Amino acid sequence: MSEAKIRYGGDYNPEQWPVEVREEDLRLFDKASIETLTVGVFSWGLLQRDESTYDFSELDDVLHRLRDAGKQVVLATGTGAHPAWLARKYPDVTRVDFEGRKHVYGQRHNACPNSPSFHRFATAYVERLAQRYAHLGNVVAWHVGNEYGGACYCENCAAAFRVWLQRRYGTLERLNDAWNTTFWSHTMYAWDDVVPPNALSEHWRGPNHTAFQGITLDYLRFTTDSMISSYLQEKEILNRITPGIPVTTNFMGAYRPLDYHRWAPHLDFASWDNYPPDAKSQDRMALAHDLMRGLKGGDPFWLMEQTPSTTASRDVNPVKRPGVMRLWSWQAVAHGADAVLFFQMRQSRGACEKYHGAVIDHSGRDDTRVFSEVSALGAELAALREEVVGARTPARVALLFDWDSWWAVEISDGPSRLVNYLQTVRGWYAALHAANVGVDVVPVDTDLDGYDVVVAPLLHVVKGDLAERVERFVATGGTFLTTWLSGRVDEDDNAFLADVPGPLAGVLGLRVTETDALPAEDVNPVRLVDGWEAAPTPLGTGPWPGSLVFDLVEPRGAEVVAEYTADFYAGTPAVTRHAVGEGCAWYVATNLDEAGLAWVVHRVLANAGVSSPYGWVPGLEAAERVREDARYLFLLNHGEDEVVVPADRAGRSLLDGRDVAAGQDLRLAPRDVVVLKTSTGVSGRTSGSSGHTGAVTEAEGE
Ligand code: GLA
Ligand code: ZN
Repeated sequence: MSEAKIRYGGDYNPEQWPVEVREEDLRLFDKASIETLTVGVFSWGLLQRDESTYDFSELDDVLHRLRDAGKQVVLATGTGAHPAWLARKYPDVTRVDFEGRKHVYGQRHNACPNSPSFHRFATAYVERLAQRYAHLGNVVAWHVGNEYGGACYCENCAAAFRVWLQRRYGTLERLNDAWNTTFWSHTMYAWDDVVPPNALSEHWRGPNHTAFQGITLDYLRFTTDSMISSYLQEKEILNRITPGIPVTTNFMGAYRPLDYHRWAPHLDFASWDNYPPDAKSQDRMALAHDLMRGLKGGDPFWLMEQTPSTTASRDVNPVKRPGVMRLWSWQAVAHGADAVLFFQMRQSRGACEKYHGAVIDHSGRDDTRVFSEVSALGAELAALREEVVGARTPARVALLFDWDSWWAVEISDGPSRLVNYLQTVRGWYAALHAANVGVDVVPVDTDLDGYDVVVAPLLHVVKGDLAERVERFVATGGTFLTTWLSGRVDEDDNAFLADVPGPLAGVLGLRVTETDALPAEDVNPVRLVDGWEAAPTPLGTGPWPGSLVFDLVEPRGAEVVAEYTADFYAGTPAVTRHAVGEGCAWYVATNLDEAGLAWVVHRVLANAGVSSPYGWVPGLEAAERVREDARYLFLLNHGEDEVVVPADRAGRSLLDGRDVAAGQDLRLAPRDVVVLKTSTGVSGRTSGSSGHTGAVTEAEGE
């Protein structure tokens, strides 16, 4: 294996083209500095023609060519799509959907996660695959399945759900209590009384409308666990046969159906596929990168897929403009990726991805714009050699992300169906991103002590010892921020029989007396109160429209920062801050617009002494990675105008080999990237995990 470097390459499905192009593929891979190929993601149906006939000769040919050419392989188990004969002979393999319809053979990613036949044949196939290629020598990772997702409501799943519930609750009494089944005569007298929650049972108007949030939440958890157990059946085989090869599966960023935090312990490293819906989603991609990095405690992850040019699955599929693929690839690296991989190497000849972009298009040419850009980035990454690889990402700010809260707030009847968890989290993240401070996006059971600021938007569910940990965090100098609709329910989605926001009320120093919800257009302007509007910021001082949900707040120790200006609660608090011990806790009682969020985030960071010299520069993203021997500062210009900023440190600009003095102007054309290396690593300046710095008194004239 070659020395460490940021991996470069991607999905390679040569079984779709005549065998003659394989030599040409290798020439083009070399030309583009591509060295890592993901093989076999959808090969099961090709390699196993019936229950007992396996023929690996096609895969042998591909893998031997790659090995002989010195390439590294991510070997897929191929179970993301199953053979047609399997569904024909064993109908339990296909799913029953939310509407209760039994599916027949078709598409992919749709095997029932509790199908005995699927498990039997998938594990048999994977076992043979692993045996056959265990000693190939160039397999650097296993790629199990592909983009797990969806749900099944078949009889096998119903039975497995009952077993899952018995394990979770032990007794029907506990289950009845958790689901609050005295409501609407739902007492369960036998485990068999439980049926999966779908359109035929508890739901109406789709997956978000349920009569019993408790059962629907549990089914979402159960679905995640079912997919994990499918994945683990394969992983256990791989671990046994090839103990030294790490195992992963490609995730999809902030994907609602599966709780990736439950899954993360079973990954050897995290990897994900980045397909943003448009070219204006820099903060959305950054959030997803940080979320994926957070799955494994900040370890580097892999960008397993991105398109080199265009997708095919959207209604309208723009090509990536010149420089965009490079910029987004560097963004992934800046946020912790140690691999930049594409879907796919050569463009599909037919079926639904024939227009999906590829490194090599239908013409097979090596002089296309896309191939040139891919080669140029390949050369850039190759020149970097072992730089950056393995470096971690220091952050003093944590953003709590919680699938339980995501699910609970969006399947809730009341107070508003307009509440969108991801959009709300993204709004807060976007403000932090504009401030250009490093953010770890982490689960709620993360140790908070390493951070200075913890932001927890829509922390609807408060579970475990979280409230106590928040109290301790604040008392010892941390800054905590949460929002409307937080602290409302426990893990079972039952309301706290206490003042709102339940276990967070004390640390926030307030009580929510009522919660109003209005149509999106009915805003309530929020203005800073005297004293606060005087603190100047580069971002204006409002007023800002509050919208969607409006908590009516009675302070109990908290200081009022901003207030509503309209309706019967005009003059009551909309933003508060509670000083506790060495730290403080902020509450934002309504959905503020971008400028309002920016003001709050700016103020919170300033008061906590967290800042970036690159904060709030339009278009500019800054991120850092650190390892023992070096610090790497990444500057990325996502804007349409040139950005000129003074360097905050001296260093070597790795992509053009120039030495940069501290204070020297760095010029970034639109879509340009600077990677500045300073040869003092973690021992240089303090990193984010060194503990919070304690309260900073209101900095006048910040
Ligand atoms: C996903 C899949 C790939 C391919 C791409 C196309 O990420 O994993 O197999 O379908 O989308 O965008
Ligand atoms: Zn099923």
